[in-house]
Amino acid sequence: MRVEPAVRLEGHFAVPGDKSISHRALLFGAVSDGDTVVRGFGRSGDTLSTLAAVRALGVQVDDDGDELVVHGAGLRGLQSALIDCGNAGTLARLIVGLLAFQDGSFTLTGDESLSARPMERVAEPLRRMGARIETTDGHLPLTVTGSPLEAIDYELPVASAQVKSCVLLAGLMTDATTVIEPVPTRDHTERLLLSAGAALSRTGDARSGYRTTVGNVDELELDAVEVPGDMSSAAFLVAAGVLVPGSRLVLERIGVNWTRTGFLRILERMGAIVLGDLEPVGGFTAGEPIADLDVTNGPIEGTAVEPHEVPLAIDELPLVALLGCFAEGETVVHGAQELRVKESDRIATVVDGLRGLGADIEAAADGFVVRGTGGLRGGRIDAHGDHRLALLGAVAGLASRDGVEVVGMEAAAVSYPGFADDIAMLVG
Ligand code: S3P
Repeated sequence: MRVEPAVRLEGHFAVPGDKSISHRALLFGAVSDGDTVVRGFGRSGDTLSTLAAVRALGVQVDDDGDELVVHGAGLRGLQSALIDCGNAGTLARLIVGLLAFQDGSFTLTGDESLSARPMERVAEPLRRMGARIETTDGHLPLTVTGSPLEAIDYELPVASAQVKSCVLLAGLMTDATTVIEPVPTRDHTERLLLSAGAALSRTGDARSGYRTTVGNVDELELDAVEVPGDMSSAAFLVAAGVLVPGSRLVLERIGVNWTRTGFLRILERMGAIVLGDLEPVGGFTAGEPIADLDVTNGPIEGTAVEPHEVPLAIDELPLVALLGCFAEGETVVHGAQELRVKESDRIATVVDGLRGLGADIEAAADGFVVRGTGGLRGGRIDAHGDHRLALLGAVAGLASRDGVEVVGMEAAAVSYPGFADDIAMLVG
């Protein structure tokens, strides 16, 4: 796909429903008692993998194309199955925590990219709880056979919401399992489990990290989940609005849980004008605050992203690199080695990709350094099958001088299938 430089972007807009929350609504709905109605579901390649997975496990889900109704099978009601996780890391990691205590045997597979991503990070703590799990040299295919589980206290060796969530889900079948996260990560699992009636408590704070404990629960009950707009998808449009001269965009009903808004705080430091009452204007949905974001084009300056900010902006860091190309001075990201085990090695693919478009950027083992050059020439970028790289290339094209050809734009469908149509509409 070729993306031409945009004159300006304008409009009021809703982005797809949050991917993290959509996965969780289906998974937690599947093990709830009774029906869960999911509205605002973020329909994408990844979440459709989760829909297929819960159906393969014997859970009935009605889908009228608008809302989904998950007929929960109860906490231990999932049936033996072979599950293809596709490209979805969140599905592959979280579901193991639920399968570990079922009465059955399960095999998980995934596409080429997911099969290269680490799975021992979830297998190892679950084995300590008594789970029976085998990986293939630390990767998918993975098999799990249900067994009784024991409580553990587990300090996360990597700042990962997926690992935290997996252990907390398995902990629902133990007396009191505690996960210690030295650096906070997104907390959708905790919020949704609380709405479902789980016995969950948390101590600590944003600076010193959290200890989260879950204990035995007889049943979960969700009723309804209203999924807010996806901050990580919105971030691509926010960046486009900041970079393309004369732009003014309003993005509606975005989930602004503070564990997801690290990118907005980084942008604010860069001097960008993104207004949004980051307090819940439309109330809470499934324990998640929502707000409209009002984005205006303007000049930006470089910034340093600190390691403790990384988990709260992990999926948006490729955009920080892009913004750095347009900023005055240097933009530095450190402590982001986790980017190397995402859908692609996102330090290598972002640095090589943006350099090919004219950026002055260097990779580090755990991040990158960009020197602003007042803009980007343009050219050709390969998505390497990574949805966020495809979206990054398209936004780079809108803001570039000569336009960008994105090779493998179809990868965007993993999180944002309608992106090309949406930007066409905003360009007008
Ligand atoms: C996610 C957690 C993050 C994030 C991913 C979604 C989640 O992964 O990158 O896109 O929904 O829990 P890690 O937990 O591996 O950091």
